[in-house]
Formats: sequence, structure tokens, C-alpha cells
Amino acid sequence: MAQDIRYPSLKYIKPAARRRIPHFVWEYLDSATGGEATKDRNVRSLQAVTMMPAILLGEIKPSTHQTFLGHSFDVPFGIAPVGLSGAIWPDAERILACEAAKSNIPYTLSTVACQTPETIGPICDGKGWFQLYPPRDPEVRRDMINRIAAAGFKTLVVTVDIPAPSRRERQTRGGITQPPALTPRILAQIALRPRWALGMAQFGRPEMPFVASYGNNVRGLPTTEHLGYLLRISPDAEYLKWVRDHWKGSLIIKGVLNPADCPRLEQIGADAIWVSNHAGRQFDGAPATVDVLPQIRAATKLPLVFDGGIEGGLDMIRALALGADFIMMGRSWHYALGALGRKGPAHLTKILQQDLIANMSQLGLHNLQNCAQALWPQKN
Ligand SMILES: Cc1cc2nc3c(=O)[nH]c(=O)nc-3n(C[C@H](O)[C@H](O)[C@H](O)COP(=O)(O)O)c2cc1C
Repeated sequence: MAQDIRYPSLKYIKPAARRRIPHFVWEYLDSATGGEATKDRNVRSLQAVTMMPAILLGEIKPSTHQTFLGHSFDVPFGIAPVGLSGAIWPDAERILACEAAKSNIPYTLSTVACQTPETIGPICDGKGWFQLYPPRDPEVRRDMINRIAAAGFKTLVVTVDIPAPSRRERQTRGGITQPPALTPRILAQIALRPRWALGMAQFGRPEMPFVASYGNNVRGLPTTEHLGYLLRISPDAEYLKWVRDHWKGSLIIKGVLNPADCPRLEQIGADAIWVSNHAGRQFDGAPATVDVLPQIRAATKLPLVFDGGIEGGLDMIRALALGADFIMMGRSWHYALGALGRKGPAHLTKILQQDLIANMSQLGLHNLQNCAQALWPQKN
């Protein structure tokens, strides 16, 4: 197929997406905070992990299956929560949830998505994850959790790494205003991207219906002040314990970098830990996620989700080798949507799996449980 030839990897998908997404949206998706060193570090540190190709093993038949929190997945990766997905590409949440259900991978719906849990939950077919930014008001908290469970989500991801808004200078320069407004500059950027504009005309102006349903007089996109007030952004251990007591499904804590935090999360009753630096969007002095992964692995027996800078199957093998149990990606799914529209996510799933298989074959790996044996220099 033409897309297999033109877009064999993310390296080629990304520039195509940039050509089809309005500039201010691109800056929202692609940027990080400060000098964006943490974002770059995530990628470079993964690339620096070397592994030894294997020979004299006969035929290798790699299996990409991975079991995580009791579910058997066809591949070891899924879709991380991205706020306002539906503003990045028209109808993105629904497209991603459908692809996830079809390919048997987890899709994580963000609290600040353009769709409600009630719309997306049923599409996910019991495999959906819901990401919660911790609401301040206990009544809102209780109601949100009840709605998320009733919509069929079995896994709750609580994000804990947003104690305050970050500056995201590149995003600011892109022209997004607070509150969001269609300024002449934004309109000009939209006019240059007709496919995106037509899609938005078809599906309607992006809103945050879940969050808006808890706002007084909030319509459309809430401002950052409103979001900051509504979603208590720096939960403590007591808060997480409350969530644990009220959520019956699996609980994952997202945004962990410090191994010293792991025992407390175990005590709280988390089912898994999500190693993430929010893709460098919050703090530019953080370590690369892959650089803290071995220490986090040593600090806890809990299953580990990993994200940050993953660009292909080889990066996934690297992270699995260093202690991750499951891999999530954020921006890449949206680059794929931008480049190829509705067909993008399925294409990305396919090429990521192909890349996994190709690299597992080189490393002599029949399955993903033994990735660590290929690390070089060897770890004791
Ligand atoms: C545009 C954008 C929006 C995001 N929104 C959220 C969000 O609403 N909730 C959350 O927990 N993480 C959010 N993240 C972080 C992702 O879930 C994930 O941690 C990160 O994108 C992984 O790094 P990668 O983009 O290099 O794959 C967002 C990331 C991006 C790029």
C-alpha cells in the first residue's frame, strides 16, 4: 500500500502531520516546556541504550504478546492520555478508541478530552483506561469516579505530576490565548489547513464536555484558571488513599520519576506505577524516563507502565529490558492522525509491531519477557 512505502516509520509521519495540522495546534501537540531539554533527553537516552544482536540461534519466531494487569494484549503498547485530542485532529478520541478496540490495545481517555467517558467507554469494550486529573471537590470526585465506572472503564490512571501549570513557551508563541479565541492569526493558520478545517466543521468546535459538566457557567473550553480550580492538581497520599477506597478497578499512578516514592504508592494500594515526566511538558530539568527506570524497577515489585520519547519497536524493547512491563505513547498517535487521518492509528500500530518483530529477530528474542538478556554491556 502507498502508505507503507511513504510512511514506514514515525520519522516520515511527523513532518507530514505538521503540514496538515494548523500551526497553533502543532505547537500545542509537539512542544514541551522551557528549552525542551527533557523532551529531547527522553529520546536521546533511549537511543543510547545498546543491545547485542544474536547469532547461531536458528529460526526466531517473535511473539509480541504481553499480559498487563490481567489483560492479554497483542502488542506491549497502547495510547497515553492526551488532553484535547479532538482539537488536534477531528474526532480523534473516537478514532483512537476504535483502533484500540480493534487492535486489542489500551486507550486512555483524558479528563480533559473532547469526549465524555459515556461516549468512549462503550467503544473500548472493557479495555479502556480513564485518566483522572484529581478533582478538588469531594462531590465532583465521587461523581466523576461513579460516571467513569458506569461507562465501563476498568482501569483508572491518576496523574500526579501537575502541581501547577507550566509555561510552555513555544505553545504560547503559537498564538493560543486564554480564554481560547479565534483571533485573525488563528483563523489564518486554520485557512492554510483545509482538511483539518473541514473535519472541525463536520464534528463541531472542540470542547471539554466532561469537565464542563462540572463548571458553573462553563461552556466550550474552560480556561486554565477554571481547570486549575476544578481539578485539584497536587494530590497527597491521603487523597490517593481516598481514590483507592472508592475505585474498585485497577489503579495506576501516573507521573512517577523518583524511586523513593514507590513504597508509599505500594502502601496506598496502587496496582501499577506509570513512569513518566509528562513528555517534558511540565518541568525541563527532569531526568529522562529511561534513565530512572532501572532504579524504579529495583524499588518496587509493582508492574510498571513506561512513556516518554518512544519512537519505535526498538525503543520499546529497550524500555522492557530495563524493567518496564507496558509501553504507552502520546504524541505519536496524533502525528499519525495528522499525517493519515482516520487511517493513521491503524497504520502506526502495524509499523510499530513490524518494528518490534524485526528487532526481536535481530536480538534472538522469541518473546518480550527476555529482553533484558540482550542488553549490552550486560547487567549483572
Ligand atoms: C498534547 C499533549 C497533551 C497531554 N495531555 C495529557 C493529559 O491530559 N493527561 C495526562 O496524564 N497526560 C497528558 N499528556 C502526557 C501523555 O499522557 C504522555 O505522558 C506523554 O505524551 C508521553 O510521551 P510521548 O509523547 O513522548 O510519547 C499529554 C501529552 C501531550 C503531548
